[in-house]
Amino acid sequence: MSLDSLPDFIAAIERIGELVRVREPVHTHLEIAEIADRVMKSPGGGPALLFEKPVLPGGVTSEIPVAINLFGSGRRICLGLGVERLDEIGDRIAEMTNLKVPEGLLAKLAMLPRLTELAKFPPRTRSGRPACQEVIWRGDDIDLERLPLLQTWPKDGGRYITLPMVITRDPASGARNVGMYRIQLLGKRHLAMHWQRHKSGAAHWREMAERGEKMPVVIAIGGDPASIYAGSAPLPPGIDEFLFAGFIRREHVELARAVSCDLDVPAEAEIVIEGYVDPAEPLVMEGPFGDHTGFYSLADRYPRLHVTAVTMKQRPVYAATLVGRPPMEDYWLGHATERIFLPLLKLTVPEIVDYHMPAAGIFHNLVFVSIDKQYPGQAYKVMHAMWGQGLMSLAKVLVVVDKDVNVHDADEVWWIALNHIDPRRDVEFVRGPVDVLDHASQHFTFGSKMGIDGTRKWPEEGFTREWPEKMVMDEETRRRVDAMWSRLGIKS
Ligand SMILES: Cc1cc2nc3c(=O)[nH]c(=O)nc-3n(C[C@H](O)[C@H](O)[C@H](O)COP(=O)(O)O)c2cc1C
Repeated sequence: MSLDSLPDFIAAIERIGELVRVREPVHTHLEIAEIADRVMKSPGGGPALLFEKPVLPGGVTSEIPVAINLFGSGRRICLGLGVERLDEIGDRIAEMTNLKVPEGLLAKLAMLPRLTELAKFPPRTRSGRPACQEVIWRGDDIDLERLPLLQTWPKDGGRYITLPMVITRDPASGARNVGMYRIQLLGKRHLAMHWQRHKSGAAHWREMAERGEKMPVVIAIGGDPASIYAGSAPLPPGIDEFLFAGFIRREHVELARAVSCDLDVPAEAEIVIEGYVDPAEPLVMEGPFGDHTGFYSLADRYPRLHVTAVTMKQRPVYAATLVGRPPMEDYWLGHATERIFLPLLKLTVPEIVDYHMPAAGIFHNLVFVSIDKQYPGQAYKVMHAMWGQGLMSLAKVLVVVDKDVNVHDADEVWWIALNHIDPRRDVEFVRGPVDVLDHASQHFTFGSKMGIDGTRKWPEEGFTREWPEKMVMDEETRRRVDAMWSRLGIKS
C-alpha cells in the first residue's frame, strides 16, 4: 500500500508499534526538542513521537499536533520509502543503469520499459480543491506564530521549520527543485530562508537576483514520506524530486496549483506556506541555530520570505525534526541517500565496492570507501573522483580501503586504515569548497580536505618491504573449539 500522506505514514508507524502519542501538554520552546533528543539517542533511534498538545509561546495549546522522529529508525525509513531494505531502491537504479546491449530482439525490446522506469510515475496536477487547501489564510489572517514551530536549542535565534519541502523553480529551464532547508520564523508573515550557497534553492535565488525578478517560493510541510525524503536527496539540478519520489513510491505524487503564486504544491501536504523573496531587498540575519554538527551555526545573512498565503488541511499535523549531536533522525535520511546513490556513484567510479558515512561524521566530515584496487595510485583516483561529484565535493575526510574491509564497521575501517598508512606518504591534502557548516575551515566555505589511502601498498607504489598477512585462525582449530565450547562454562 502506498503511503500518500503524513497521516498515512503515522498510521503505518502506529501499526508496527513504533509510535508514542504524548497526551501531556509539552512546550514547543525546547521541551519537545529535549524529549525528542533523549528518544533519538536511544538504541535503534527510538520511537516516533506525536505530541498531541503542543504548547505555544504565550501558553496557548495548539490544535495542531507535532510529529517528530518519523524517519528515525531503520525500520521506519524503509517503511516510509516502501521497501524492506534501502538497497532495494539502489538495486532498481542499478538495473536501470545497466545499459549493456542485450542479445536478441526480444531482450532488446524488454530493455525499453527499464529505461523509462524513472519517468513512469511523473507528478500529476489535480484539478479541484486539494486537501492541503481546505483552510486558507490570506491577508491579515496570516499568522505563522499560531503554528507549532519549535525552538530546539537554548541559544537558537528563534523558532524554526525543520522538516520542510522548499519548492522553487529555475527561471531559465523551468525545472522545479524541492529542497529540505531549515527556515526561521521572523514574525507573523515573514521567514528567513536558509538555503546554503551550494544548494539548488540558492542557485535559483541568484538567477532571479540577476534577472531582477521576485522569486516565488512555497514551503510544504507534510506530504507523502517519499517526497519529504526526496527534498533531502542530493539529486542533480534538473531532476525533479517529485518525479524521483514517484519512482521510489511506484505511484504518482499528486500536485495542485498554489493559491497565490505560480508554483505547484503537494496536494496531500498538511500545511503550505506560499510567498516570495525579493532579491532587491537587503538580507536578514538568520540564526544562530543548534545544527547537525552538534554546534551552533553562527548567525549569517539570508533572504527574507514574504508570505502571501498559508493553506492547510482541516486537521493538519505539523512534521518536525531535531538536529544536534549525532545520532539524530537526520542520520536515517542521509543513510537512505547513501544507499540509494551507491549505484549512481559506481556508474562514474566503477571500482567503488561500497561506501559509508558514519553518524559521528555528520555526512560531510567523514566518508569511508572500499575499492577493488587494480592499479597503483587508484585510491587517489577515487578520492579525486568523489571530490568531483555534487555534494560529495564537500567531504572533509575520505578514507579509502581495500574491498575486503567492511565500511559499515567503523572500528574495522580505522583498525585497517591506521595499520596500513605511513601518514606522510598516504595522506593527501587538497583545497576546494567545504560545507557551509564547517566552522573550522580557514575561510567560510573554502578550505582543505584530507584523503587517506588505507589500501595495501604495492611495490609499484614504491613499497618494497614485505606486506604482512592478516591473522586468521585455521579452520581445523575453530572446529575443535566449536565442538568443546558448550563444555567450557564460558557464557557468550
Ligand atoms: C533535517 C535536515 C535539515 C537540513 N537543513 C538544511 C539547511 O538548512 N540548509 C541547506 O542548505 N541544506 C539543508 N539540508 C541539506 C539539504 O536538504 C540537502 O543538501 C539537499 O540535497 C538539498 O537539495 P538541493 O540539492 O535540491 O538543494 C538539510 C537536510 C536535512 C536532512
